[in-house]
Amino acid sequence: MTTTASLPTPAHQLSTPSTTTTQPKQEDVNFQGLPIPRGPVTAALSFYKAPEDGAPPHNYVEPAPGVPQRNWGDDWEEVTLNDLRGSESKFTLDHNAFDTYQNIQSAEHDFTSDARIKEVYYPEVEKLLLDNIQGAQRVLLFDHTIRRPTGNRNPVTRVHIDQTPLSAAERVKLHAPDDADALLAGRYRIINVWRPLNGPVMGFSLAVADSQTVEDEDLIPIEHRYPDRNGQTAAVRYNKGQKWYYWSGMGNEDRLLLKCFDSDETVGQWGRVPHTAFRDPRTPEGAVGRESIEVRALVFG
Ligand code: OGA
Ligand code: FE
Repeated sequence: MTTTASLPTPAHQLSTPSTTTTQPKQEDVNFQGLPIPRGPVTAALSFYKAPEDGAPPHNYVEPAPGVPQRNWGDDWEEVTLNDLRGSESKFTLDHNAFDTYQNIQSAEHDFTSDARIKEVYYPEVEKLLLDNIQGAQRVLLFDHTIRRPTGNRNPVTRVHIDQTPLSAAERVKLHAPDDADALLAGRYRIINVWRPLNGPVMGFSLAVADSQTVEDEDLIPIEHRYPDRNGQTAAVRYNKGQKWYYWSGMGNEDRLLLKCFDSDETVGQWGRVPHTAFRDPRTPEGAVGRESIEVRALVFG
């Protein structure tokens, strides 16, 4: 025993990692050491339930005191969500109305000042879209939303699409009044660029339904009442033909693109992606709450 201790260690025994280690791999845990939920999962999603009284459905963006925020209900359905992680290249904006990008750097880290977000982050998003979206000639970023457990915006746990064909055209008129006619005559898309601010995402991931599996008749226009004007969003009826996905453990350098509208009906039949955050039954206790930003873009050409 004592004699072997003095012998030099053979080189092949010097490396420490072993293939039989029981330590979790780096990418399996977050910075808290908690396991990142991955792979297929069954979760309850909230779909559209028509108003009991047969009235047309509406939302109030800022409901007056005592006024219900909406006049329509929830249809909770258990849905299987497949994990996009590892299959990213199978999905495109044209065919499925969503897409994924990885290893995207940003010079903005705080996301606490709207002015800085517009100055630093907006140009990065614009470049991402111009460089990657086929045919894109011009990008107009018109809105962003920060969601933080400590802020006033939370994850949206209801299946929806941000715009309808009607409100997409209204957005063009609202944000590009001077050349709206010319722009409306060409191709225009509305695309949200979504990313976490404190990835990897451990809960309330965004789920997306492949546009190809969504029937037009399951999309219900909802009058979206702002204090000064009415817009329109779409609610979504459950249909067992819908195929749902999420992108596990999204990191700060991941970007999920959601196409809410495309005026070119020959591409993926009016591609539009129903989406919702979902409560993941696997989220470990004590995991950090999801923080995210989504930037909304009109993409012309
Ligand atoms: C969106 C959206 C909800 C969320 O980006 O359009 O609906 O929970 N986000 O982040
Ligand atoms: Fe949305």
